[in-house]
Amino acid sequence: MRPAERARELADQLRYHGHRYYVLDDPEIGDDAYDALLDELRALEAEHPELRTPDSPTQRVGGEPVSRLDKVTHLQPMLSLANARSEEELRAWVARMRSHLAREGIEDPDFRFVAEPKIDGLAISLLYREGVLERGATRGNGEVGEDVTHNLRTIGSIPLRIDTDAPPALIEVRGEVYMSLPDFAALNERRAAQGLSTFMNPRNSAAGTIRQLDPALTAERPLSMWCYAVGVTEGVRFTSHSESLEWLAAHGFRVNGDVKTLGSEDEVVAQCLSWQERRGALDFEIDGVVVKVDDYELQRRLGAVGRDPRWAIAWKFPPTTAVTRLNDVAWNVGKYGDLHPFAQLEPVHVGGVTVKQATLHNEEDLVRKDVRPGDEVIVLRAGDVIPQVVSPAPHAVERPDRAPVPRPPERCPFCDTPTVKPEGTVFTRCPNRECPERRWQLLVHFASQGALDIDGLGEKQIAGLLERGLVRTAGDLYRLTKEQLVAIDRMGEVSAERLLRSIEASKDRPFGRVLFGMGIEGVGGITGRNLAQRFRSLDALMAATPEQIAETPGIGPIVAQIIHDSLADPQMRALAEDLRGLGLQLSVEGPPPGEGKLAEQTFVLTGTLPDLTREQATERILAQGGRVTTSVSKKTSYVVAGESPGSKLEKAERMGVPVLDEAGLLELLRD
Ligand code: IVH
Repeated sequence: MRPAERARELADQLRYHGHRYYVLDDPEIGDDAYDALLDELRALEAEHPELRTPDSPTQRVGGEPVSRLDKVTHLQPMLSLANARSEEELRAWVARMRSHLAREGIEDPDFRFVAEPKIDGLAISLLYREGVLERGATRGNGEVGEDVTHNLRTIGSIPLRIDTDAPPALIEVRGEVYMSLPDFAALNERRAAQGLSTFMNPRNSAAGTIRQLDPALTAERPLSMWCYAVGVTEGVRFTSHSESLEWLAAHGFRVNGDVKTLGSEDEVVAQCLSWQERRGALDFEIDGVVVKVDDYELQRRLGAVGRDPRWAIAWKFPPTTAVTRLNDVAWNVGKYGDLHPFAQLEPVHVGGVTVKQATLHNEEDLVRKDVRPGDEVIVLRAGDVIPQVVSPAPHAVERPDRAPVPRPPERCPFCDTPTVKPEGTVFTRCPNRECPERRWQLLVHFASQGALDIDGLGEKQIAGLLERGLVRTAGDLYRLTKEQLVAIDRMGEVSAERLLRSIEASKDRPFGRVLFGMGIEGVGGITGRNLAQRFRSLDALMAATPEQIAETPGIGPIVAQIIHDSLADPQMRALAEDLRGLGLQLSVEGPPPGEGKLAEQTFVLTGTLPDLTREQATERILAQGGRVTTSVSKKTSYVVAGESPGSKLEKAERMGVPVLDEAGLLELLRD
């Protein structure tokens, strides 16, 4: 095959698989296979530079840094949105549109609406000329934005070329660029481990990322995009918003699949409430729902008032912030000895609960926010996250007699050891490994849900065990006896036995979780799983060089060094040996991912199975190379249903996904 032909073929394949991965979230091939195609195309283009087109899949990363962001004037202004904060305001909006149209002589408008999540990221405009991405810009002030094409090119869900033989001469695609919550958590985890300051929320982190001058930095911080509108077009025309969204989805753009066209006000209200309820379950942040009139002709007739179109409105979710007095800043000690400031607040009602304490992250954050005892402060509680102090209230900073910004204590508030601050880190630390608070944090972490998940062993129980000197390290938990437990206040025989059983059961937790639970610096939940997958045993991981550790997805050289050093620590080695002797899982059983009897098979578990717990069933499936996910989709191979299965079973039946009971699953595992 001629090089040009092979290059075209490779580019087509890469585009196809990139679309499946980034846009449809339904990959057909593994990362390694994808990388192999990419490497081949890179090599070919290196040999034949004339084959390297700007829309080649090799041209996403590796662009040159820019020296500044150029201003660009939008071909059509990017509008903003008026808000509705209640059902009444939403209905009033529809009534206003009706009377406006009546004045225009349109008596009974055929209102169809489209309701979309209002994604909390930043608005972006993408310009495709003859099907090729020419320019991407931020919204800016709506008229003039900034050219961030170099960064947008690194985002996998943004096509560099429109997937069609007959592209329109020009089309502007608009949407929201954002960072998903898992990606945000992983980024902050990485930054904290490197001693860098963490981002406040996904929006800030997406906004900071998209304005980077060096696209290589952007490529390290995963962003994604939901497309929600078409701007100017030449060579293609749409008559409604829903039609344009369908076109976008069919041409390789990422459009939210839950976006619905609705026929009545009541349906719109119901849909808004449903998004509000699902808000916490999404893997990206939304702060409301955008409701748009579907018909373009009606949109045109409705027009805009100032920057706000009459034909669209943002239904805003109830506020999750409140203002209250910061009584004091106190400090707690984390599992690595790191001191964290937290706010003691005048109790205040926010997001449906009373809040008395809120996190202030770290000392650098405290200085940046400039909050001081006695200030009125803004408290944020979004979704299920820990309440945080955002900033002083605007008037607070004008008080003449403000206290200074609190400094970290010179002695540990828990063990009185002088604190230290290693150079280049953001945390002052308590260096005492026997610090009771630090031990407590480590054990609470060990027993927590994402780690060893020991049911019935919470913060209070662990404090009780430490106080009585019954445990010191995680290994000690497995040596507790019933007699010791019964001696603890309010622990009856039944609870003691139950606790011992759940401690014993935690020995079955997979290696990745044990790794996370051990409290190795630099190893968060996601990193723990990735390290387990890559190294497959603690011995292999402990023998690895920092360079080898850095080959794990999501781990850079700095964190790799931290993990390596933390693993070399004699106390960590002693803990590992202890846990091994006790029978915890320090290696991965079964075939590597992508191999084994159940490779490429995806299972969803629902309801209570007669014998196996959900955990056990999951472990057995994973051990044979299968995957377990939580929601039924066309990717699901089997739904395993027990008693009281609920909606997942209904969905499986509707979608024609095969359903197994426990016996059926066991048979499949045995085959
Ligand atoms: S439509 C009418 N749709 O909200 C044109 N905007 O307050 C306005 N946003 O700047 C844009 N999700 O950044 C639209 N599904 C969505 C949206 C959305 C988030 C943001 C966008 C815009 C702001 C307007």
